[in-house]
Amino acid sequence: MELGQAAIGLYAAGATALATSLVKLKTRLELSKAKHRSLTGHARMARRLASIIPGYEYGEAQFFCCDDAPDEVAARRRAGFDRLAELYRVRFAETMRRTAEVADGISDLQFTDAYRVPFQFSRIARRHLNAGAFVQSSSGVTITDLDGNRSYDLTGSYGVNVFGYDFYKGCMERGQERVRDLGPVLGPYHPVIAYNVKRLREISGLDQVSFHMSGTEAVMQAVRLARYHTRRSHLVRFCGAYHGWWGDVQPGIGNPVPAHETYTLNDTAEETLRVLRRRRDIACVLVNPLQGLHPNANAASDSSLVDSARHAHFDRGAYGDWLKRLRAVCSEQNIVLIFDEVFLGFRLAPGGAQEYFGVRADLVTYGKTLGGGLPIGVVCGRKELMKRFRDHRPADICFARGTFNSHPYVMAAMHEFLAFLETPPARARYVDLDEVWNGRAERLNRRLREEGLPVELANMSSVWTVSYTRPSRYNWMLQYYLRVEGLALSWVGTGRLIFSLNYTQADFEAVADRFVAAAKAMEADGWWWHDAATTNKTIKRRILRELLAHRLLPGNRRG
Ligand SMILES: Cc1ncc(COP(=O)(O)O)c(C=O)c1O
Repeated sequence: MELGQAAIGLYAAGATALATSLVKLKTRLELSKAKHRSLTGHARMARRLASIIPGYEYGEAQFFCCDDAPDEVAARRRAGFDRLAELYRVRFAETMRRTAEVADGISDLQFTDAYRVPFQFSRIARRHLNAGAFVQSSSGVTITDLDGNRSYDLTGSYGVNVFGYDFYKGCMERGQERVRDLGPVLGPYHPVIAYNVKRLREISGLDQVSFHMSGTEAVMQAVRLARYHTRRSHLVRFCGAYHGWWGDVQPGIGNPVPAHETYTLNDTAEETLRVLRRRRDIACVLVNPLQGLHPNANAASDSSLVDSARHAHFDRGAYGDWLKRLRAVCSEQNIVLIFDEVFLGFRLAPGGAQEYFGVRADLVTYGKTLGGGLPIGVVCGRKELMKRFRDHRPADICFARGTFNSHPYVMAAMHEFLAFLETPPARARYVDLDEVWNGRAERLNRRLREEGLPVELANMSSVWTVSYTRPSRYNWMLQYYLRVEGLALSWVGTGRLIFSLNYTQADFEAVADRFVAAAKAMEADGWWWHDAATTNKTIKRRILRELLAHRLLPGNRRG
C-alpha cells in the first residue's frame, strides 16, 4: 500500500515536472519564434561570428575589380579614383594637415575613420579620400572646413540639428546670458528649470521629469525605473534599434559582454506580441520610432554596404498601427512602454513621436536637440514610475544621479529651445512637414530614375537613407563623390542623411543637383558596372568565400 502511494506520488511529481518542462519549452519556442531571422536578431551568435571574422584587405589591383570587372572598367574606376584623390589632396589640404596632427591621439577619430567603408577597402580609401575632421564655422544649412570649403550639411549633427545651426547658436548665447551670474553651480537649481519642467510635462503629457547628461543615460534610467517598479528583470528592444551604447540595450556586436536580461525581438511581428502576453519577466519595451523607416535593420552605415541589399521604406499608417497594438498589449500586461525619442523627438512634430503616431507611452526619453545645442538626456514619465524610493521600504531605492544633471547652461539653452517651440515661426516649421519632405524625396527619386542611376532615397520626414538598385560592391564610393560636390555626410555615409528643417526649397534644389551630379560622375567612372550573373546573393557568397580563405590562411592579409 505504502509502496503504491509512493509510486503514485512519484508519477504525479514526474507528470508535474514534465508539464512544467513542456510549458517552459513552449515559452522558449515562442521566444525563438519572436526573434528576427537575421543575425541582428541573434545577438549572441552575431558576437561569436564577429569574433572570428578575419581582417583582410584588397591590394591596389583588386581594389578596382573585386567584382571581376573587365580591365577597361577597372581602368576607368582607377582614373576616377585618382581624380578624386587629387581633388581631395588639394581641396582639403589644411583640414587634412590638422587632422593628421591629432589623429594618433583621438581614438574616436581612428574608429570612425576605419569604419566608413567595408573593411576590405578601408585602408586605401582612408589614405587617398580623407576630407579631414575639422570645421571652422556653420551658417544657414552649411558648414565650412579649415580650407574654406562650404558644404551643405547632411549630417544633422547626429540629429541634434532640427532648426538650423544659427538657431542653436542663439539658444546657447541667450541661455548663457540668463544664467551668467550663477555660472557652473551644481546641485541647487537655477530658476530657469521651472519653465522647462512645465513645458516638458505639457509636451510629453506625463507627470514628472528627470534630467541627465546624454540620451544613453536617459535610456538607462528609464529602463532602471521600469525594472524597479515592475520588479521584473527583462527589457525588450527591437531588432536593429539603437538606444545609445549602454550594454543592456546593445546586446550584440560592439559590447564585449553578453546582455543576459535583454530580449531582442522581431519588430512589427505578431510573434512578439505573443511573447509579451506570455512571459512574466518583461519589465519594459523600448521603442525607437526611427525603426519605422527600416524595421529590424540596424542603423544603415556604409561600412556594412557590401552589396545592394540595403532597403528602407516608411509607412506612417502601418507603423502607427503597430505602435497602437503594442501599446494595448503593454497596458494589458503591465509592461512599461518606453518611447525613446532621443533622436526623433521634436523632429516629426512639436509633441514628438507620441503626437505624430497618436500613441502615449509610459516613459519617454528625449535628448539631442532638446538641449538647445548642449548635451542632454531627459526622462519624462508617469508619477508612479518616476518615483525613486518606496515609502514603506526606505532602503529599497532606485538610484540615479549624475554630476552635471541640470547644469544651468544646459537648462538655459533648453529654455530657449522650448520657448521657441511655442512661437508661430516654430509652429510654421511643422506645417505640411511630411508633404514637403516626401515631395522632395519623390522628385529627386524621379530625377535619378530618369538619369538611369541606380540610387534610390527613402525618407521618414527629414531623415533620409540611400538604397541602391543594382547589385554592386562599390556603392560606398558614392559618399566620396557627394563630398566633392559639397555635400557633407556623417561617418555612416549614405546610410543616413539628416536635413534640418530650415532647408529652403532653393537649398534643397542645390543639394538635389549636386546629388545627381555625384551619382552621374560615379556612374561614368564605372563603379556601378555589373554583369548579368551578379546578384546580391552572388556578392555575399563571394565575400563568404574570401572570409573562409582568409580564415584558413591567416597569413594572407591582402586580397
Ligand atoms: C534613439 C536614441 N537613443 C539614445 C541615443 C543615445 O544618445 P546619446 O548619444 O546622447 O548618448 C541615441 C543617439 O543617437 C539615439 O538615437
